Amino acid sequence: MIDLRSDTITRPGKEMLKAMISAKVGDDVFDEDPTVNALQEKAADMFGMEAALFCPSGTMTNQIAIRIQTQPQDEVICDKRSHVYNYEGGGMAYNSMVSVCLVDGDRGRISPEHIANNIRPDDIHAPRTSLVSIENTVNKGGGCYYSSQQIEAIYKTCKLHDLNLHLDGARIFNALVETGQTSREIGKYFSTISICLSKGLGAPVGSLLMSSHENIRKAKRIRKVFGGAMRQAGYLAAAGIYALDHNIERLKDDHRRARAMGLIMESHPNVDYVLPVDTNIVIFRLKGQLTAHHFVSRLAEKGLLCVPFGQQEVRFVTHLDFDDTMLGQAEKILKSFYI
Ligand SMILES: Cc1ncc(COP(=O)(O)O)c(C=O)c1O
Repeated sequence: MIDLRSDTITRPGKEMLKAMISAKVGDDVFDEDPTVNALQEKAADMFGMEAALFCPSGTMTNQIAIRIQTQPQDEVICDKRSHVYNYEGGGMAYNSMVSVCLVDGDRGRISPEHIANNIRPDDIHAPRTSLVSIENTVNKGGGCYYSSQQIEAIYKTCKLHDLNLHLDGARIFNALVETGQTSREIGKYFSTISICLSKGLGAPVGSLLMSSHENIRKAKRIRKVFGGAMRQAGYLAAAGIYALDHNIERLKDDHRRARAMGLIMESHPNVDYVLPVDTNIVIFRLKGQLTAHHFVSRLAEKGLLCVPFGQQEVRFVTHLDFDDTMLGQAEKILKSFYI
């Protein structure tokens, strides 16, 4: 089976496992896990932030970021394709009691105008706009990314209007290897940053929230009440350190393979169009009445797994466990497959 459902399906390789089993651990709820501490320091330093917090998932780091930067009755501005809005179980309402102002950006990328035009007036009838959340790369936008100029402009607008700015950077390294920016360069624009170790970077579990000392102190209380404080988590943190040290530059290979998959789909007879392939995500729309569900289940019978991404949209994601040999196999399957 070739599995392109997500970049989260990877399993740790030998070297990562070696790092995990030889990790020095302690009880992280007592702050005594040296490997978790090392990972947090490393990540904070990479992004030029004061502190970081290791959490079980990107959903948790995003939800904590929203919780610590809003009050009930506030409003968060984000794109309508955002993971924080679509795929976190209504968590903004449930965890933080905030409303959401959805904007329709360019494949999920919002602009300073989207923000400025949607800030609520200081009026008791209106929610208070307090936070902007952007996603980079944008999952539902086909893995597109922001340029540094776009991020800087968003930052300036947020600063002007005294708004906090959160980055859902589940796939931020996919963006960075394409733009050539460093993590430090973009770190300075955000009040909070969430990154995932368990996607393109290939770790089995884990995300990090980065921010100021003060915010991370608050985040730690929220992580506890969300049930996300872990004990000997150093075994997992060791995988994260390995991933940050070894698996960033190679994301370019995933992007090359995704572009190749995009080209294959562009000439597929069932495909209407393919979104531009900017990183490791390929989204295409099917022709006529063909449903994504039908296409995906028939393709699975041929040995290629992917996910429906809307009524007629399908998503492939390339990753660490999808190599050039598998790319050749996928091409063979797709060239002889037609509904
Ligand atoms: C853009 C984005 N943000 C956040 C998440 C949440 O990560 P997790 O699955 O670790 O909760 C995902 C997961 O796929 C994602 O794609």
